[in-house]
Amino acid sequence: MATNLLIAFYSRNGSTEALAQTIAEGARAEGAEVRLRRARDLVGPEVMAKAPGWAENAARMDAAYEAPTEADAEWADAIIFGTPTRFGAASTELKAYIDSLGGLWFQGKLVGKAGAGFTSTSSTHGGNESTIISLYTPMAHLGLIIVPLGYADPALFRAGTPYGASAVSGQANNPPTADDLEVARFQGRRVTQVAAALKAAQITRTKN
Ligand SMILES: Cc1cc2nc3c(=O)[nH]c(=O)nc-3n(C[C@H](O)[C@H](O)[C@H](O)COP(=O)(O)O)c2cc1C
Repeated sequence: MATNLLIAFYSRNGSTEALAQTIAEGARAEGAEVRLRRARDLVGPEVMAKAPGWAENAARMDAAYEAPTEADAEWADAIIFGTPTRFGAASTELKAYIDSLGGLWFQGKLVGKAGAGFTSTSSTHGGNESTIISLYTPMAHLGLIIVPLGYADPALFRAGTPYGASAVSGQANNPPTADDLEVARFQGRRVTQVAAALKAAQITRTKN
């Protein structure tokens, strides 16, 4: 039976989206069935109009990806959360999705699934590691088994972080580099491998 992987991400300018697509590629190469989902914007058109391209990018991505749902999380054997850095932490848009999982948390439905994170920043030391680590906190509450990358692939010595894939978009909204994408591909493979092993182990919440 295939390993089910949910990649729930938010992206405004496409950098996090490119990482998400490449993680999906790596996961599919490992035999995973993947759902790629974009968390929706939470502000109105008057706010979006202040940042050139925001509304257009959102419309394009919303046409390409469904919004993540509770059912997607329940379906998944692994969940990888992706977000642009917002002041060194996760975006409100992704966090709103995570917060919508309270019902599943209450039922212990996500316990024992694999979890991981990835991000894109504007500057090299603008908080890529702190952002992924900030995703670790809700993952722990949800009972996900957090899967970091370590330096388990040579690509990690050139790009990414031991916590998860990352990219630096700079002032010009540059796309991820080939090395960034290699780390992303590895993340898809690695999380799929771990999720398959966890699924076989059938780790669930202790029954009353
Ligand atoms: C409100 C806000 C806060 C941000 N905070 C940071 C930050 O702390 N560090 C950083 O390097 N970039 C920061 N950025 C820039 C984005 O994280 C960066 O452009 C990212 O690559 C965008 O990803 P995307 O192309 O997927 O939208 C911020 C952007 C916004 C709009």
